[in-house]
Formats: sequence, structure tokens, C-alpha cells
Amino acid sequence: MSQPTPADDATFERAWTIADTVPGWLTRDQARLLHDEAQALDPGAVALEIGSHQGRSTVVLAAALGRRGSRLVAMDPFVEGRLFGGATTRQKFERHVAQAGVAEYVELVPEYSTRARPGWSRPLDLLYIDGKHDYWTLSDDLRWAVHLPPGAAVLVHDAFSSIGVTLGLLRHVLFSRTLSYERRAGSLALFRVRPPRRADRVRMVAELPWWVRNVGIKVLLRLRLRPVARLVGHDSPYDPY
Ligand SMILES: C[S@@+](CC[C@H](N)C(=O)[O-])C[C@H]1O[C@@H](n2cnc3c(N)ncnc32)[C@H](O)[C@@H]1O
Repeated sequence: MSQPTPADDATFERAWTIADTVPGWLTRDQARLLHDEAQALDPGAVALEIGSHQGRSTVVLAAALGRRGSRLVAMDPFVEGRLFGGATTRQKFERHVAQAGVAEYVELVPEYSTRARPGWSRPLDLLYIDGKHDYWTLSDDLRWAVHLPPGAAVLVHDAFSSIGVTLGLLRHVLFSRTLSYERRAGSLALFRVRPPRRADRVRMVAELPWWVRNVGIKVLLRLRLRPVARLVGHDSPYDPY
């Protein structure tokens, strides 16, 4: 993997300045991990983002990809609803991507990942999963990895902070022969398309206490017990991510 140059650092800083104004669930460290994996791809690469929302992660990925002559497919159905919003969220997404000057590198596919996957044939070089966080959707989203070459990155948000996502990872990655766990930035986990070693599996299991802590914090927040969550180091009204 090529290391980021000072010009890449500058690209990241510019993109993050805009991305950080976009509502969403991505920390600076997580954005940097996404950026660094995207900037390491060969020119002409194609990355897929599942779950774009208002474009916080899209802006970061597209900035890194565009600099190298690569492209981002951003997939989100923008369903109307209380949680994520519909047409207005799509308008915000388009506005943020335009503000960041990366619109020409982004191909929006307004579709559910699970509906688009069966008919998909285009090769991909990086996969970022941050769509619906239930076990079944995450399990299906991992199947997009068949379009990736050996060594490619699979990044999964809320990997060790959501019950559905973590159970899906344990079922499909912990015992997989083709995906191995590398590391995480908060809940953003980096997997790679390569046969896992025992140590990779052990490292993934070692994240489970952190997952239990995060699920516990979510329960405490639902019960309005924020002072108790503070005792385990979570000083925020939001779920850990
Ligand atoms: C957690 S948000 C994504 C956040 C975004 N990556 C960011 O950085 O702010 C999840 C998004 O996934 C979308 N979504 C839900 N189900 C989906 C699916 N099956 N395929 C693609 N996107 C989906 C939702 O509409 C929502 O916008």
C-alpha cells in the first residue's frame, strides 16, 4: 500500500474541513482511515460506498479517489422516514458533494444495496459498508466482496458497536477463508481480502469485550442513565461509534 504524501495529507485536510460540517456518524480518525485506503488505490479504481446519507464519508472517499483518477459509487435508497430522511436527505447529499468539489468523482446509485447486488457485474477495488445495520443486510452487503481483487480493503462502520453488524461479522468473517481482520478506528473496522491467519481471528475475538461495553452503553443511554455511561468513559448523549 502506498503511503500518503504531503499532498495527500492536504487533500484529506481540505475534504475533512467540509465533511466535518456534514451531519453524520464519522470521526476524524475514521475519515482518515477511509481516505488512506482510498488514496492507495491504483488510478482508475472504483470504490463502492453502501450508505451515504448526507455525504459525510462520501466527501472524504471521493476526494481521495478523485485525486488519483478513480471513482466512487455511492449507494443509498434515500427512503422517506424519520431516521434518515428521503428526498431532502438526497438534496443535502448532492449539495454537500458539490460544495466539496467532488461531484464529478461520485456516481450516485439511489438503490438498496441488497437489490442492486444480484445484478451487479462491475469490478470494484474497495468496499465501504455503512448501510442498514441489521444482521441480514450486513450479511448480504459482505457478499459484494466477491467483486474485489485479492488484497482489497473492506471497511465496515459500527463493526463493534451494533448487535446486527457484529453478529454478521462473527458469522461471516471470523470463520471466513477469504477475509481477514486488520484493525479499527473506533467502530470502523478494516478487513482485507486475504486468507486469515490465526492471529487475525484472535485479534477479532479480542474486540468482543469492547463490543459488549458499547452495547451496554447503548442500553444505559436508552434507560437515560448517562451518568452511569460516563463511569465507563462515554461522555456523550450519542451511541458509541
Ligand atoms: C449510518 S447512515 C450512513 C452514514 C454515512 N456513511 C456518513 O458518513 O454519514 C446509513 C445510511 O444507509 C442507508 N441505507 C439503509 N439501507 C440501505 C441499503 N440496503 N443500501 C444502501 N443504503 C442503505 C440509509 O438511507 C442511510 O442514509
